[in-house]
Amino acid sequence: MKLNRKIITIDGPSASGKGVLSKKLSKHLNFEILDSGLLYRAYAYLFSLNNDHDQTKSDLTKLNFRNDPTKIKVFFENREISNDLRLEDCAKKASELSAKKITRDNLILLQRSFINEKGLIADGRDMGTVVFPEAKFKFFITANQEIRTERRHKELQNRGQKVNIRDLKMDIINRDKLDRERILSPLLPAEDSIIIDTSSLSPEDVFHSALNSMDTKK
Ligand code: DC
Repeated sequence: MKLNRKIITIDGPSASGKGVLSKKLSKHLNFEILDSGLLYRAYAYLFSLNNDHDQTKSDLTKLNFRNDPTKIKVFFENREISNDLRLEDCAKKASELSAKKITRDNLILLQRSFINEKGLIADGRDMGTVVFPEAKFKFFITANQEIRTERRHKELQNRGQKVNIRDLKMDIINRDKLDRERILSPLLPAEDSIIIDTSSLSPEDVFHSALNSMDTKK
């Protein structure tokens, strides 16, 4: 397979630091970002309106994404749904639906349509293994579960969401289990991926470690 230098994949469990690394790399390289988790969340949101996969697939075409300096805003039929998508409940539904073949099939072309001339950072669970196997640079970002729970707690608090840390911890444990153990596209590092454990690293450290590994692989 011919490797594509313009695609960087960043996979890993929730709150491992994929989003922060994606943003830093995107700014540095001027690449666009695909937040595939957000597409799975949008799918779960749309599916909850109709309980029908065909309808949901057709509704996906009515989504609009706007890049804000700090976050991606998502609109459905001109209504902003970004906050709905960032609720833990929506993530849970996304994880459940993502184990189904029909859901993954309905999202694959949409994800691949994000390939562009400038370059792409693809953030998710199966970006390097399934969706963009041709990516030249593949990262798998991990962190221990306590750290990830703390990070997600802070992130949700900053967004004004009230969450019980014990519930959040259980949600993260359950979601990791679902994502890792599902038959289709389970969360796992691609064979040729570079693994970075971010538990004791600052976002800057992670960014530099990623850049160094890319330099070495050139
Ligand atoms: O990255 P996130 O937390 O926003 O993702 C929400 C859920 O979507 C995640 O628990 C599993 C699913 N997902 C997936 O199955 N494959 C992806 N590439 C991205 C997300």
